[in-house]
Amino acid sequence: MLRRHFFRDALAVVGGAATLAVASRAGAQEFKIPAHIQHDDAAFWRLVRDQFPLNHKRTYLNTGGLGASPQVSIDAVQDKMNALEETSEVGHSHDLWVQIKSRAGRLLGCEADELAYTRNTTEGSNIVCNGLPLKPGDEVITTTHEHVGNTIDWIARQRRDGIVVKTFTPSMKSAQENIDRIEALLTPKTRFLSLSHVTCATGQILPMKAIGELAAAQDFWYFVDGAQSAGMMPVDVKSWGCHAYATSGHKWLLGPKGTGLLYVSKEAQEVIEPRSVGAYSAGGEWDMITTGEFEFVDTAQRYEYGTVNVPMFVGLGASMDFLLDIGMDNVWAHNHAMGAALKDGLNELGAEVLSPQASDEHSSIITFKIDNMPYSELQGFLGREPHKLRTRGIYEGGLNGLRISLHLYNDFADVERVLAGVGAAMKA
Ligand SMILES: Cc1ncc(COP(=O)(O)O)c(C=O)c1O
Repeated sequence: MLRRHFFRDALAVVGGAATLAVASRAGAQEFKIPAHIQHDDAAFWRLVRDQFPLNHKRTYLNTGGLGASPQVSIDAVQDKMNALEETSEVGHSHDLWVQIKSRAGRLLGCEADELAYTRNTTEGSNIVCNGLPLKPGDEVITTTHEHVGNTIDWIARQRRDGIVVKTFTPSMKSAQENIDRIEALLTPKTRFLSLSHVTCATGQILPMKAIGELAAAQDFWYFVDGAQSAGMMPVDVKSWGCHAYATSGHKWLLGPKGTGLLYVSKEAQEVIEPRSVGAYSAGGEWDMITTGEFEFVDTAQRYEYGTVNVPMFVGLGASMDFLLDIGMDNVWAHNHAMGAALKDGLNELGAEVLSPQASDEHSSIITFKIDNMPYSELQGFLGREPHKLRTRGIYEGGLNGLRISLHLYNDFADVERVLAGVGAAMKA
């Protein structure tokens, strides 16, 4: 039932409730989004799944690595690219930039002019890490469960500039215990805290708001790696009080590969200095000959520099519309319920669940291990017939577990498939 060329048709009012109809250009059957979506409405989520070209030869459970794109996004990229190639234009325009960033702002809880386009989370993290005015001896706190993309930049800066990177291992017991672990590392030299909203290692949701309050009280800078949260769940960067947040377009946001977003608060834009700069970074006039003066544009666009692939960001806009039309609350209710069902099922089987048990701390990423098989072998076992599950091994933090990521194109039948596979592996 995959249909090419979906676009937002109309916001119709049906029975007093808003219903968004996403219709095909060719007039084919509509993909109607009802006003009230149940997280376990299997028929609806199957229809959502049908909007993706992702095939059924295996069960895809690695959105934490890479998200699949809906056809509507792929079509948007192709259409834009075809149109631009007819005249050989870049296609960049201020209006288009702001339009797409406004949608991103609705997903992340910020203004369009606090967002910069990047290629991925790693680029966003690097912009923040390398743009901060840190001196030798200044301390940065992070966790042992971070992804390499938000780790190596800090270690490289430690080697280059003599900053000190300090780590704590996230507790699975309580949010308060994690606050305590951060507090235990604070010294008068603490300048910066860098951690994930949802960790790639166990899918743990860290207490963003409480950490933001600590950062404000102690007056240090606060960066959030959002690679695993934007598109998985509602995000509200402003309410957390973080100064910057980076994410990838190509994971839970379902966008084209090689797209990313970086939020930098107005206040932080004055402190995090752009290091790669060019035509997109500068506002107004610059003078190379007499004064050597220039001004940065007064938005987060200052972190952008040269020509980009505009069709890719148009595709990201279409993917974000797709999520917004379904509603992030609905997406999260579905994702969280699948995560809970998987976690509970693994507990019942007797697997060792490495993700948090608490409902407000686990996400739709669940990491686990079993006694009788190392994770690499388990990954191979589950990847082969008859299971055919695409998973990801987790070596971060020395966990040696297997990670399952569940997004809106997965359903409870996929959860059952994982449990059946793990049950078989435990008996192998
Ligand atoms: C928490 C986290 N940060 C950063 C990254 C790096 O993402 P990218 O390669 O898109 O920069 C990942 C990738 O999985 C991640 O999980």
